[in-house]
Amino acid sequence: MCGIVGILGTHEVAPLLVESLKRLEYRGYDSAGIATVNDGHLDRRRAVGKLVNLSDLLVHEPLAGKAGIGHTRWATHGAPAVRNAHPHRSGRVSVVHNGIIENFRELRAWLAEQGLSHESDTDTETVAILANHFLAEGATPEEAVELTLARLHGAYALLFLFEGQEDLMIAARKGSPLAIGHGDGEMYVGSDAIALAPLTSRITYLEEGDWAVVTRAGASIKDSAGRLANRPAKTIQIDSAQVDKAGHRHFMAKEIAEQPSRLTGALDHYVGEDGAIRLPGPGIDFSTMDRLTMVACGTASYACYVAKYWFEQLAGLPVDIDVASEFRYREPPIPPRTTALFVSQSGETADTLAALRYCRDKAERIVSVVNVAESSIARESDLALPILAGPEIGVASTKAFSCQLLVLGLLALEAGRQRGRLDGAGFAEKVEALRALPGLINHTLSLTEDAGRIAAQLAEARDILFLGRGRMFPLALEGALKLKEISYIHAEAYASGELKHGPIALVDKAVPVIVMAPHDELFDKTVSNMQEVMARGGPVLLITDRDGAKAAGHGVWETLVLPDVAPLWAPILYAVPAQLLAYHTAIAKGTDVDQPRNLAKSVTVE
Ligand code: M6R
Repeated sequence: MCGIVGILGTHEVAPLLVESLKRLEYRGYDSAGIATVNDGHLDRRRAVGKLVNLSDLLVHEPLAGKAGIGHTRWATHGAPAVRNAHPHRSGRVSVVHNGIIENFRELRAWLAEQGLSHESDTDTETVAILANHFLAEGATPEEAVELTLARLHGAYALLFLFEGQEDLMIAARKGSPLAIGHGDGEMYVGSDAIALAPLTSRITYLEEGDWAVVTRAGASIKDSAGRLANRPAKTIQIDSAQVDKAGHRHFMAKEIAEQPSRLTGALDHYVGEDGAIRLPGPGIDFSTMDRLTMVACGTASYACYVAKYWFEQLAGLPVDIDVASEFRYREPPIPPRTTALFVSQSGETADTLAALRYCRDKAERIVSVVNVAESSIARESDLALPILAGPEIGVASTKAFSCQLLVLGLLALEAGRQRGRLDGAGFAEKVEALRALPGLINHTLSLTEDAGRIAAQLAEARDILFLGRGRMFPLALEGALKLKEISYIHAEAYASGELKHGPIALVDKAVPVIVMAPHDELFDKTVSNMQEVMARGGPVLLITDRDGAKAAGHGVWETLVLPDVAPLWAPILYAVPAQLLAYHTAIAKGTDVDQPRNLAKSVTVE
């Protein structure tokens, strides 16, 4: 989603703004722009497409000034075009925005009645026009922003810059996160701490409803009731190196390769030397829990679907799952003794956050499994469990998925222990099997060449099917999502037993079918479904282990053979070939692997 940055600096800010915007590229965008105030005058440059277009424009038409704001836009209202790119300007006000102003049509109509017209199709320009209108009526910048915010409905992170004011930015947060950075005689504002990482590690997060008057001397923050708010600065550890490609061609490749070390770090964090699972604070009481409700979006929701098998099998704990965008409007009853568990890499996904708020007064406890420890979802939970994947920059989630699975797997084991379903030996054996995963993933990463060879052919396909059974069904869903989001090939996943109830009509020799089937208790059944595909000429890629390949590898188009893994934890290992196939298929197709079209890393609008 849109990225915001602002700098009150001591040097020229245009290059710093572009550099900070580069660090927000991972969020997804289709145009970019910056505005500065110099000798009292506001000016801006905007360009469609990648940041390099904005940089080129700045070479020909430089922008001077030591105070400025910048933006990467992910189009919601109005096509990606220069006139719709941010910063928007009206008279003495320039503004950048992430979110959606839901009542912008009414505001637009009202402004039209005042004789004020728009140049763009965006909701954001309305904010600039409103603020400038109040300035023209004699308000100070602070008053103009306060009056403007009072008229807005919807979700926003906003950052204002004013003509004639070289030591002032005003930031506001409602629904979309904003961080204020403290420098040495400089101040910054960013959508997240990653944007500000090279500039400062001292960060103040605005709370919901806050707005802040920022000068080089500091930030004065008011809460939604207009009271001065004390929001302490924290020192955030985001090492610039963590957001480098570290020699890899893409962030996605780096993030796939990092999985063994990230999983090892998470295992060390959560599993004590005695083999017990360590949770922060009072932990989670699974023994009295009647039901677990899990809510998430996209890849995070597939992690929940895998975990459902674990919680039900290991702990006999009933689990409901819903994608957040459906859950929040269904008004589902939440029975007593329900814990609501939210899974999110970014911790800022608007639908997941709204679902959490829906559960706030209904569920007994709100638990979240997040990657960004300072995120809104983490902060609004009773207990937030970090997955410790480190910054994930590639839009396609990889290491966050495996780390989410690991943390959820540990929770399911703990639930099994507390509910008396797992005895000491069974528990210890399963923890040990989890500890084996980083090594097994390391082996699996050596399949990258095979994956590349197979992907060259997958890249020719128009449609691809993924099949899996039991715990591997959500993996099939994840494999299909990964492939379609970065290669743009249409991919669907089915529980393999469902194939004959309709989707088998799609099978022909031009539709590769990828079957995820470790040699487990469901293997024979999956293979029967695979045979049904082969009988109809469908080329099958079988992803399995040695025994599986021996038993069913004859006559398939291709086989990828993974190391043996405890069947329970196979979804964590089998995520890796799915990622490698998607990655290499995207490379073969020449798509933008880290920033695929139309997608945003952190979906902060509905
Ligand atoms: O940050 P979140 O985990 O809440 O994001 C949820 C989805 O938007 C995300 O997993 C998305 O599906 C990924 N692009 C998948 O690779």
